[in-house]
Amino acid sequence: MNSDIEQILITESELQAKIKELGSRIAEDYKDKIPVLIGVLNGAVMFVSDLIRACPIQLNIDFMAVSSYQDSTESSGVVKIIKDLDRNISGRHILIVEDIIDTGLTLSYLLETLQARHPASIKVCALLDKASRRRVNVPIDYLGFQIPDKFVVGYGLDFRDLYRNLPYIGVLKPYLYEGITGDNDI
Ligand code: PRP
Ligand code: MN
Ligand code: MG
Repeated sequence: MNSDIEQILITESELQAKIKELGSRIAEDYKDKIPVLIGVLNGAVMFVSDLIRACPIQLNIDFMAVSSYQDSTESSGVVKIIKDLDRNISGRHILIVEDIIDTGLTLSYLLETLQARHPASIKVCALLDKASRRRVNVPIDYLGFQIPDKFVVGYGLDFRDLYRNLPYIGVLKPYLYEGITGDNDI
């Protein structure tokens, strides 16, 4: 285990088992369609790449890069598009793939922005839900795990752009972020 990690919250095998389940459900629900799975960079990079391998149907993938935190560890509420989709999604079935829903501000912005492009449908698949932190109500159609309000990193989730490459979800040792912020955030 990485020495900056206090506790493993979700192991690699627990993640992979859950992703297989989610992939099967999505494959069943979209078997007669060709959905566009939209990975939200950077955090969803690992999740979307494992999820599509667990989803044996015809599908497209595309990516958006957005950031609501920028240099801060606390959500500013301002979401910025850093990279937009490469395709027109009008008439397409969209599945947004996120690593974590925290305040909900990023997802709420994405839903509003993508809905305005007239897709046939939009659903959301999120690996983690930190529901106790929610500031806006957002739908999650496919969810991996509910998690407590702990400072989690790994499997795409970062602290200061580090720890994304850990294959599990871990809790960061508090001394690493104490004094930087009084808040508890990703
Ligand atoms: C994180 C995470 C989600 C979002 C969730 O992304 O990956 O996209 O925050 O938080 P919210 O529900 O409070 O909006 P971040 O903006 O840190 O960018 P990153 O994916 O590149 O780490
Ligand atoms: Mn993100
Ligand atoms: Mg981040």
